[in-house]
Amino acid sequence: MTDTARPIVLSGIQPSGRLTLGNYLGAIKNWLPLSERYDCYYMLVDLHAITVRQDPAQLRERSYEFLALYIACGLDPQRNVLFAQSHVPAHARLGWILNCYTQMGELNRMTQFKDKSAKHVDNINAGLYSYPVLMAADILLYQASQVPVGDDQKQHLELTRDVAQRFNNLYGKVFTVPEPMIPPVGARIMSLKEPTKKMSKSDEAETNAIYLLDPPDTIVRKLKKAEMDSGNEIRFDIAGKPGVSNLMSILSATSGESFDAIAERYNGQGYGKFKQAVADAVVECLAPVQAKYRELRADEEGLRKVLRSGADRASAKADATLKKVHDVLGFIPE
Ligand code: TYM
Repeated sequence: MTDTARPIVLSGIQPSGRLTLGNYLGAIKNWLPLSERYDCYYMLVDLHAITVRQDPAQLRERSYEFLALYIACGLDPQRNVLFAQSHVPAHARLGWILNCYTQMGELNRMTQFKDKSAKHVDNINAGLYSYPVLMAADILLYQASQVPVGDDQKQHLELTRDVAQRFNNLYGKVFTVPEPMIPPVGARIMSLKEPTKKMSKSDEAETNAIYLLDPPDTIVRKLKKAEMDSGNEIRFDIAGKPGVSNLMSILSATSGESFDAIAERYNGQGYGKFKQAVADAVVECLAPVQAKYRELRADEEGLRKVLRSGADRASAKADATLKKVHDVLGFIPE
């Protein structure tokens, strides 16, 4: 992990709801093997979470829950830097600076801002608007070359690249220009009841999402009730068969089977058998995570220790970049 010649990966999740199967298949699962080849930094993105009002006690509880789940999913804190965004002051500091290098026109185009401001009309705050700038700071501080995310973060990554390139054109090569790393299957898991909408941890309807801590019978029940398309054909066709395609993505991402193999095996068998197979695969995939989670969550002091060490390691990297930025901007060295 201290080998500085290795390329860097950074990613994170907002503790703004309960972790879903979408977060797992689109993000965390793909983080697991990366520490073999990269220096990996994974955050609890708490500064971003407060762009929408959070209950303080719930935010704290979810932050512990997320960290315990990161580790239960297989992210070893020795081999990955696990930290809270709010514990590393360089994020907010670089975020401010990058606000001065991002155009309002660019932020006006962000679809996540448009969606969230439509959903929270009584709280369209400046943080929600400049959210992608803080995300750019998160990534650029670590000189990350790869950012493993789901499909919905692509636009923010494009903005990050534009801001990095703009800054580098003005001041020399200060930032590594990052690439998104989006998985071929599982990058956009959809809502179970409304399969044209993404599965979201902040969705009010619980039956729309599978949560990583859902017990097996809940998973089976939710999948049984998943909205299916007319006809009973099992084929991957997002536009024509969004419900079937979503469950095929879930089955493929959890079992490793290809879409063709799934279609061949379940076509003509009826939706019931197919749904049961998806439920079995999800339960099997989450069982070891759930088993490890309880023990980890019970040790709050152990979790805080992981975060303290993570913040120290993250700060060392982030502060070096911030220093470079201050220097090229002409600030007096501290
Ligand atoms: P967030 O918290 O909404 O989601 C965390 C990760 O989960 C992925 N994801 C999904 N993937 C597949 N299907 C879904 N239904 C689904 N829902 C969510 C997301 O693409 C993401 O990878 N802005 C980010 C957090 C962030 C960040 C960063 C990420 C802040 N700074 C720096 C990477 C690097 C967000 O809101 O993710």
